[in-house]
Amino acid sequence: MKVILVTVATLLLLVVVVVGEASADRILSGRARVKRDLSSPLHRGGIRDPFGSYCERRGGCCPGRDDQCIVPYLDTICYCDLFCNRTVSDCCPDFWGHCLGIDPPFIGTCDRNGHRFLTGQTYKENCNLCTCGTTGRWECEQNACLIESDMIQSVNRGNYGWKAANYSQFYGMSLDEGMNMDPQSQLLPVYFNAVEKWPGKIHEPLDQGNCAASWAFSTASVASDRIAIQSMGHMTPQLSPQNLISCDTRNQGGCAGGRIDGAWWFLRRRGVVTEDCYPLVQPQQTPVEVGRCMMQSRSVGRGKRQATQRCPNSHNYHNDIYQSTPPYRLSSNDKEIMKEIMDNGPVQAIMEVHEDFFVYKSGIYKHTDVSLPKPPQSRKHGTHSVRIVGWGEERDYNGLPKKYWIAANSWGKTWGEDGYFRIARGENECEIETFVIAVWGRVTMEDMHSQQHRHRRN
Ligand SMILES: *[C@@H]1O[C@H](CO)[C@@H](O)[C@H](O)[C@H]1NC(C)=O
Ligand SMILES: *[C@@H]1O[C@H](CO)[C@@H](O)[C@H](O)[C@H]1NC(C)=O
Repeated sequence: MKVILVTVATLLLLVVVVVGEASADRILSGRARVKRDLSSPLHRGGIRDPFGSYCERRGGCCPGRDDQCIVPYLDTICYCDLFCNRTVSDCCPDFWGHCLGIDPPFIGTCDRNGHRFLTGQTYKENCNLCTCGTTGRWECEQNACLIESDMIQSVNRGNYGWKAANYSQFYGMSLDEGMNMDPQSQLLPVYFNAVEKWPGKIHEPLDQGNCAASWAFSTASVASDRIAIQSMGHMTPQLSPQNLISCDTRNQGGCAGGRIDGAWWFLRRRGVVTEDCYPLVQPQQTPVEVGRCMMQSRSVGRGKRQATQRCPNSHNYHNDIYQSTPPYRLSSNDKEIMKEIMDNGPVQAIMEVHEDFFVYKSGIYKHTDVSLPKPPQSRKHGTHSVRIVGWGEERDYNGLPKKYWIAANSWGKTWGEDGYFRIARGENECEIETFVIAVWGRVTMEDMHSQQHRHRRN
């Protein structure tokens, strides 16, 4: 009797310790769920509470994934959402009976190097994923791998005139993946953010306020970043969107919309001053000022220009004119866009904006059909231009990779992910890969020198 009591106590302790840690993990981070499931064996060794009503007591089950769909269990929690059925280990004991009307699955354990794993847990063996099956046996994928040790050994033992070796960058890839390998994509990292590659040179997302001039905002910010990168940080102007809005008026609509080809023409031929010099005017406050161009420039030879007016504000005297070279259009291939961003800096993209984009807060945006049942006046779209600064990849609930772009919007820093948003990459979501523009700033050695000089004087 004594022996049995001790065993039960030990088992309970084990369950409590392991589960306590795992549930904290779940609450702290929704994304870590897949990983957490692998280390949260609620039903270790098939232990169950045969008399408990958990999901039933809760008053029901939850469809899909719902991290709030929980019930106290021992001194931790268990789940009654459909998602728990994927790895079975964190479902409440009556989940299968009460929610699905089926018998609970048998929870087996598999052994690997002396460690016990539960049904649903996985490990990667070279290029194949192995899963602990309900029968207590590992079930592994059967892909041919790019690196197979027997092939390397056979080549090296034989007299073939060449030697073979294991390359860590190929290890874990399947033969199919290897055959489809694009040499360029090998050089592109899984994650890249211009903000991290060029600290202090990439400008923060702007706020266009009540003014529909993303054409001016995105052009000014891409040009600003490019000038800072190209001048290696000697010049880090935040170019003035207002200068474009008020002065680039030929065939442009100011705050009612405009064309980016016109904006780039202006930046190349006339140039603009900084935001400090020519700050944003809120249109609703002074409509007259918006309409009037407060800054002209004149040629001073060799394509360079000089401002002919003072800054339209009393505290800034630096009215240097910044110009760009002609912009160039990239192909819609995501690899080419990525390479351009990594080598030369952020790019400008035009996208279709739909009604759901305005309420975006976080995650990888894809246009949804939630407004489909609504009348046509609730489903609108228009074009908008943004600045792409990087990319990345993350895994969804099913473990599938989801690729995204990181882009800066111009709706202020409180919108989206700190003024930025992520959007699906490689599938031309909202046409974002259709029309992508890059540009060089017009930066000469002389510019870099004189800028340095002035900074020292200040
Ligand atoms: C839940 O898991 C059981 C056992 O793995 C499976 O047979 C069943 O189809 C799953 N149900 C749902 C709704 O996913
Ligand atoms: C090849 O290298 C990888 C990582 O560098 C290592 O994990 C693996 O065991 C090696 N495989 C062989 C067959 O030597």
